[in-house]
Amino acid sequence: MIKVLPGFCALTAHPAWFPSSWTAASALWFWWDGGGGRGGGRGGGGTRSIFKSPQHGGAQDSVSRTMAGTQNRTGSETQDSVSRTITGPENRTGSDELIFFVNGRKIVERNPDPETTLLTYLRRKLGLTGTKLGCAEGGCGACTVMVSRYQPASQRLLHCAVNACLAPLCSLHLVAVTTVEGIGSVARKLHPVQERIARAHGSQCGFCTPGIVMSMYTLLRNNPRPSMADVEEAFQGNLCRCTGYRPILEGYKTFTVDGGCCGGKGKDGCCMTNGNGGLQNSKDGSEEATSLYNTADFEPYDPTQEVIFPPELMSLSKCGESSRSLRFRGERTTWLQPDSLHEFLLLKWKHPDARVVVGNTEVGIEVKFKNMAYPVVLAPGSIAELNAVTHTEDGIVFGAACTLSHMGAVLRKAVQSLPPHQTEVFQAVLEQLQWFAGQQIRNVAAVGGNIMTASPISDLNPVFMAAGCKLTLMDKDGSREVLMDDSFFTGYRKTAVEPQEILLSIHIPYSQKSQFISAFKQSPRREDDISIVTAAMSVTFSPGTDVVKDLRLSFGGMAPVTVLARRTADRLLGRQWGEELLQEACSLLAEEMSLDPSAPGGMVSYRRTLTLSLFYKFYLRVLQKLRLQGLSVQEVSSECLSATEVYRPETPSSVQVYQAVPEGQSLGDVVGRPIMHLSALKQATGEAVYCDDVPLYENELYLALITSTKAHARILSVDTAAAERSPGVVCCLFASDVPGSNVTGMRQDETVFADGQVTCVGHIVGAVVADTQLHAQRAAKAVKIQYEELEPVITIQEAIVAQSFYKPIRTIQSGDLEAGFKQADHILDGEIHIGGQEHFYLETNVTLAVPREDGEMELFISSQSPSDSQAFVAKALGVPANRVLVRVKRMGGGFGGKESRTSVLSTVVAVAADKLKRPVRCMLDRDEDMLITGGRHPFYGKYKVGFLQTGKVVALDVTFYSNAGNSMDLSQAIMERALFHMENSYSIPNVRGQGFICRTNLPSNTAFRGFGGPQGMMVAENWITDVAHCLGRSAEEVRRLNLYLEGESTPYNQILHGVTLDRCWDECLSRSEYERRRAAADLFNRQNRWTKRGLAVVPTKFGISFTATFLNQAGALVHIYRDGSVLLTHGGTEMGQGLHTKMVQVASRVLGIPCARIYVSETSTNTVANTSPTAASASSDLNGAAVLNACQTLLKRLEPYRTQNPKGSWEDWVKAAYLDRVNLSANGFYRTPDLGYDFDTNSGRAFNYYSYGVACSEVEIDCLTGAHKNLSTTIVMDVGHSLNPAIDVGQVEGGFMQGLGLFTLEELHYSPRGVLLTRGPGSYKIPAFGDIPTQLTVSLLRDAPNDKAIFASKAVGEPPLFLASSVFYAIKDAVRAARAESGTTGPFRLDSPASAERIRTACCDRFTKLCPPAQPGTFTPWSVRV
Ligand SMILES: Cc1cc2nc3c(=O)[nH]c(=O)nc-3n(C[C@H](O)[C@H](O)[C@H](O)COP(=O)(O)OP(=O)(O)OC[C@H]3O[C@@H](n4cnc5c(N)ncnc54)[C@H](O)[C@@H]3O)c2cc1C
Ligand code: FES
Ligand code: FES
Repeated sequence: MIKVLPGFCALTAHPAWFPSSWTAASALWFWWDGGGGRGGGRGGGGTRSIFKSPQHGGAQDSVSRTMAGTQNRTGSETQDSVSRTITGPENRTGSDELIFFVNGRKIVERNPDPETTLLTYLRRKLGLTGTKLGCAEGGCGACTVMVSRYQPASQRLLHCAVNACLAPLCSLHLVAVTTVEGIGSVARKLHPVQERIARAHGSQCGFCTPGIVMSMYTLLRNNPRPSMADVEEAFQGNLCRCTGYRPILEGYKTFTVDGGCCGGKGKDGCCMTNGNGGLQNSKDGSEEATSLYNTADFEPYDPTQEVIFPPELMSLSKCGESSRSLRFRGERTTWLQPDSLHEFLLLKWKHPDARVVVGNTEVGIEVKFKNMAYPVVLAPGSIAELNAVTHTEDGIVFGAACTLSHMGAVLRKAVQSLPPHQTEVFQAVLEQLQWFAGQQIRNVAAVGGNIMTASPISDLNPVFMAAGCKLTLMDKDGSREVLMDDSFFTGYRKTAVEPQEILLSIHIPYSQKSQFISAFKQSPRREDDISIVTAAMSVTFSPGTDVVKDLRLSFGGMAPVTVLARRTADRLLGRQWGEELLQEACSLLAEEMSLDPSAPGGMVSYRRTLTLSLFYKFYLRVLQKLRLQGLSVQEVSSECLSATEVYRPETPSSVQVYQAVPEGQSLGDVVGRPIMHLSALKQATGEAVYCDDVPLYENELYLALITSTKAHARILSVDTAAAERSPGVVCCLFASDVPGSNVTGMRQDETVFADGQVTCVGHIVGAVVADTQLHAQRAAKAVKIQYEELEPVITIQEAIVAQSFYKPIRTIQSGDLEAGFKQADHILDGEIHIGGQEHFYLETNVTLAVPREDGEMELFISSQSPSDSQAFVAKALGVPANRVLVRVKRMGGGFGGKESRTSVLSTVVAVAADKLKRPVRCMLDRDEDMLITGGRHPFYGKYKVGFLQTGKVVALDVTFYSNAGNSMDLSQAIMERALFHMENSYSIPNVRGQGFICRTNLPSNTAFRGFGGPQGMMVAENWITDVAHCLGRSAEEVRRLNLYLEGESTPYNQILHGVTLDRCWDECLSRSEYERRRAAADLFNRQNRWTKRGLAVVPTKFGISFTATFLNQAGALVHIYRDGSVLLTHGGTEMGQGLHTKMVQVASRVLGIPCARIYVSETSTNTVANTSPTAASASSDLNGAAVLNACQTLLKRLEPYRTQNPKGSWEDWVKAAYLDRVNLSANGFYRTPDLGYDFDTNSGRAFNYYSYGVACSEVEIDCLTGAHKNLSTTIVMDVGHSLNPAIDVGQVEGGFMQGLGLFTLEELHYSPRGVLLTRGPGSYKIPAFGDIPTQLTVSLLRDAPNDKAIFASKAVGEPPLFLASSVFYAIKDAVRAARAESGTTGPFRLDSPASAERIRTACCDRFTKLCPPAQPGTFTPWSVRV
């Protein structure tokens, strides 16, 4: 079926527009413009204009006018708008016109600023807010859009997923951009890509969803029947912090050949509509269900129904318009696009300092984050010679502007067609490309850009160097060829290329018959990560021998430039490839690849060890290849074979099990059913409105923060002169501008603006308000502050020495510790440090403050705690709380990070709005958010544990130290929760736990999913592992022996009822086939020296309630309108956890009406007052009970009308009640009964109940590199009677993956002076798609009703997170096996996270011995453990 929209029918009717190379199917494609700005509320608003973009001066007004008439008040477009052209204002600057299409609409921009990104333009100028900003550095994929180009030479269309945050607007001449709005909408028609991610429960907070949708959409545009491997590759550049990725992959599996989808080619249409998607295995009607959605509900996917490339663009491209010279002048930068090589060379000669930009993946970062400004930018991306690929006699020449994706495709083809011995170099490049960034980056980044950036951790330069690639450099007077060796890189990010020269091409040679090459990359995370060490090694033998003729060992990450280990290589020339050579090579490399102990990047002895370990891998691989050539070299023993293998990802598989609703439950009763998150579809289309998607107000201003660069200092002076002179600046704000109180914080120990002193790097000193974000941020950077530095306290250890603690120091003690230790057969001491964690919600903190009359302030905040935000703002403004309205529609993730710390921003923004009496907005950049808002508390735990020979623990003395930072915030409650969880799930008769909260000069740490519980339990798992290691017993045996039993008491004297630990344990062991796995792992470990497997089964018991008793209350407000529709409001906020969905389910059951009749609009302080934060996993319990209460009140009021008219409908009863003057609004309230623990007496109930769970994980570690694979995880979680199994499984998986990050991956690095060094996805790695366990089973325990919460359910948000420690302890188990190979046994220390560095270092062997760490105290490390 062809669908044609008005405005395009004439064009689609002209076959002449389509090139002959097109397939018949593609000729049928058409634009069905999804339009834009659904969330933008374009036009219609009167006082607001989302098109006002002051950065373009008067320009935007005309754009606004042009577009305003094209959309009706509800946001849907009128049809004639589709064919209209959007034009910018008259050209006043001598710039050319930039012409491109967005979602089928022509845009003519007359004054494009070269520093404007596509993302800013889409969001601010076009009001297309579906595309999100998550990081601005190409690292999260939230901004992914599809860019399509017509390539006249090949007459083909190229569709690429790109990061809009890095794509310069000026690079878009004659391209078609498709955003998430352009492919479908809830109002009109969803695209199957949007629909399936939503229905498969792959969208929680939804902030990542548009980007993921567009990555998948682009893949399908290029390949309508991809494999799962293609899908996984397409998502390498996308991150999600909520879902755990599994549901996204599973939903999209239905498009793949592996998922069984016919791609619309089935006999009766798409097989998905027939329910044959291959994913359905539910046992309907039985107790247990295993399917969370039905593929039969999916709309069929028909690739022939896609949008077509704008014919006008095609004809312009054909006329050579796309490669003509262009000039765009901006505020600080002029963009010159030459039309020929000759012009490019002349321009470079004329502007030797000009920046060449192709993919902008390097330059974009410099401009955004390094404060660089380039007056002239040369954009040679369309010059034919720079894109040429030439096959020569001895290799392939790539033009410098060839993208990495293109280069990869050419090399893959060559590998398939050429004899293997010729393609060793190509394969090495491909190996590096597989782990090079994500696809969005590879699609635009050029090979020349990688070389010319000269980064010491470039992944390609080592290969090019080891392979002896040649570069052609050119200037206007001619060209020269240079060999890419170590003389090419002349210093950090410097090359031998002259300023007036350009890089024309690179020649990558064929390999020789007797030459072998391997490339290696070791990074913290496998996917989309920069290297710790990257290497390429090439050896050439004298023909027919194993005698080394040529050896090139090239390393990145070992010096300020890519280096060749020349001395080592020279010494090995003429030597035979054997054990002796290996030994000498290692000694030589250890000497030559030395690093200063203070070297940037840290991990010094790990990096040095890696050079040896990687050489060893190369050595083994070459031995294998030599034997294959028939040479009689030493055979690689079978136990070493795994060290030669190249890692290949495996497609994950998964199982979810939950309790089916009881037989007889009416279909209309949705409680217990896996219904989709109510906003999921809107999130998938970009229609869901987040705080920064609220349209710009007419007179709105932007605020940027001025923050401290010192951890502890007195402020001597602040010079704002330069900032105030900056364009667009309205004012600067400091402490004296706060009209109310400058004192703020949960404990009133903070300031809105620093007052005389700063106590951390990132402390807010002031703010600049300007007309645009760019102007505000530039001006903020121009503020100069002079400090007198004071000695900071940064680490926990420093705080202990300085006795820098907050009060109180809490203790929980029970039993008789002394007697316990006396009774013990063994006593051991131990310690563990658990690193902090960044929340990395995809949506950073954001506030929009709008002043109203009478001192009222309306705030849109991404806040988990509207009432706290309200109180803080009221105090700062000096007004009563009744003048401050806080509204929260939804958040793009919270995880505790938006509970209290969000106020550091919202108070500042409110103060600015109040002073200027104009709306003010600020959305923190990712680096600012990471710097300022704190994260999970790092913990250091020290313990002494006494136990019997049987493994029974009889005494425990544990001390916790947390790094709280520069204010108390929630640190006391967090430490208390750590103490409440110090024994995890184990019954220990004699216990003492003490908690010290360290006051340091770090940004204040705060709530984070688990709230101290995971840290407390992590220490417990460490001592129980030590006990097992000490006794030589399996840790699982010791854990099982100590598990709590029904009726036992905790150290804080709470009797446990309804314990399901044993049930979870037994089911977990049987589902995971633990015994079989353990036997297989033991066998594997005996057979493999350099790869080890490990297993761990870990339980959790998580207390549910706020430990601050007063917070255990909630309110709800329910209105029934005359038409029978219901508006539901409650105190909880929606951050992706599905709270609103669950609350609608509750109301639907109680009122007996369908969910569709109930709507939740937002959370606001003027509907439900005095709300508790949405936190502590208790929000469904508390708000659910309040909703129940309100609905029951209403039901009671309606009862007479039901009785009078039993056959009537809901609407009839509502109408009758209304006419009878019955109040159809009710509020509900709930307070959890019988709570109130007292530390002084160690009595009173701390928790309402407990959530239990058990997980079993298996991993495989590479002992030589420290990398690990998550092979399998089985989780059994007791969530009571789940209100919504799809949401609960999502919480379990998402929580687990966040814990996986915490315990194995995520590392915050601080300098010894307290500067956070990891401030974005480039340097801070959260789990990616590739980190999911290859087999993941989640089972929600059946028949486990909970009598303490709504409809027998249990809390689920935080409890599963800790189960990820099973991966940590499985790693520790594997490391133990590796250590045993070197004869090292018994307990050992492994701190969290179990990073590649820690794993490698713990697997001590002959290589680590050659690279001992420098003596602590003899040098200043790059980073310190805080
Ligand atoms: C999210 C992300 C992930 C990344 N991951 C990796 C990774 O895994 N491994 C890795 O090695 N790198 C990585 N990078 C770095 C970057 O992508 C590469 O260096 C890329 O190849 C740069 O190409 P570009 O076209 O985008 O360069 P640009 O930003 O356009 O230019 C980079 C530099 O090269 C110069 N230049 C470009 N072409 C020429 C020419 N023809 N003549 C003279 N000078 C020229 C420019 O002047 C500029 O100084 C990553 C970057 C990002 C943002
Ligand atoms: S916002 Fe562009 S990749 Fe993160
Ligand atoms: S749903 Fe992916 S980040 Fe929230």
